[in-house]
Amino acid sequence: MSDNSLFHPVSIGNVSISGNVFLAPVAGYSDAAFRSICRSCGAAFTYTEMVSAEALFRGSGKTENLMRRAEGEVPFAVQLFGGSPESMSAAVGITLDRVHPEVIDINAGCPVPKIVKGGAGSALTHNPEALHAVVGAAVKAAGSVPVTVKIRSGWDADHLSWKEAALAALDAGVAAITMHPRTRAQGYEGKSDWTLLAALVKLVDGRVPVFGSGDLFSAEDARRMLTETGCDGVMFARGAMGNPFIFTETRDLLTKGAFSPIPSETRLKTGMHELELLIADIGEVAACREMRKRFCCYTKGITGAAALRPRIVQCSTLSEYKQIFNELIVKSTISN
Ligand SMILES: Cc1cc2nc3c(=O)[nH]c(=O)nc-3n(C[C@H](O)[C@H](O)[C@H](O)COP(=O)(O)O)c2cc1C
Repeated sequence: MSDNSLFHPVSIGNVSISGNVFLAPVAGYSDAAFRSICRSCGAAFTYTEMVSAEALFRGSGKTENLMRRAEGEVPFAVQLFGGSPESMSAAVGITLDRVHPEVIDINAGCPVPKIVKGGAGSALTHNPEALHAVVGAAVKAAGSVPVTVKIRSGWDADHLSWKEAALAALDAGVAAITMHPRTRAQGYEGKSDWTLLAALVKLVDGRVPVFGSGDLFSAEDARRMLTETGCDGVMFARGAMGNPFIFTETRDLLTKGAFSPIPSETRLKTGMHELELLIADIGEVAACREMRKRFCCYTKGITGAAALRPRIVQCSTLSEYKQIFNELIVKSTISN
């Protein structure tokens, strides 16, 4: 059965977004090329991977490349991480000046020890006072541009601080809260606890939109999260890797009650298009290397792909990818 009410526009502060199915920030994946592909497959809103406020503050050009807007990517969010209100404030100013994103998101969930040691990422969910200071500094520096925050459920099972973190974020003036309901100790293992997301929706009580992340690997998962938790929108992360079609499928499931399988040819062509966009951004050598794991995902389940995987993971040029693409197109056409 379709449920039109589950798919709807959302507003983050003064920013209107046409739908509530988003691409999450994913370091090493959600670059401009992949975000562009996800937008063309139906993602209504996209986030850059996390960008270091400290590095921006120090003037790292490499860091600035991470937050470039993809073509036609309006609206979009730049995600920043940092543990110091001073550098966060400066980084927000630099970001707005150079990239003009419609939304700034603050990472309060990253579990990586190096990040947490600097008081950033999930250290902020663990320390609501610090979160208040960092997010408050971002809100002040951002002026009319909405600031949002992405939190975890807490540090570990004995220290679930999501409630205090969310209240601190609201008090600091955020325009939306996303929750990935795993603890820092869980990393990306185990199950995310959607009952905590439902509890956050209740706590926030409509003051700002609440978005959910965690264990969204299919359109059905997205529908279940929206239904079970009452959250305003969902964010695909690992579920979108090599499968940007998950956005089209989710939109179709939510609006029409069903979706059609994506033809192998479309999947292969989309993978090649992503490679071309990546080459335009970072050059052929780096793009071909980066695309190896992604192309393996695109070819999953396609007739003849498993046998070609050893070649895919060694591809170094566009013409090598084209050769593999052509072989797979022939095989998948024969098998259809
Ligand atoms: C490789 C990888 C990189 C990630 N990078 C970020 C990031 O830069 N910023 C962020 O807020 N979350 C990041 N996340 C967390 C995801 O956005 C998401 O919340 C998490 O993966 C849970 O969703 P899933 O279980 O559907 O993958 C990352 C996750 C993975 C697996």
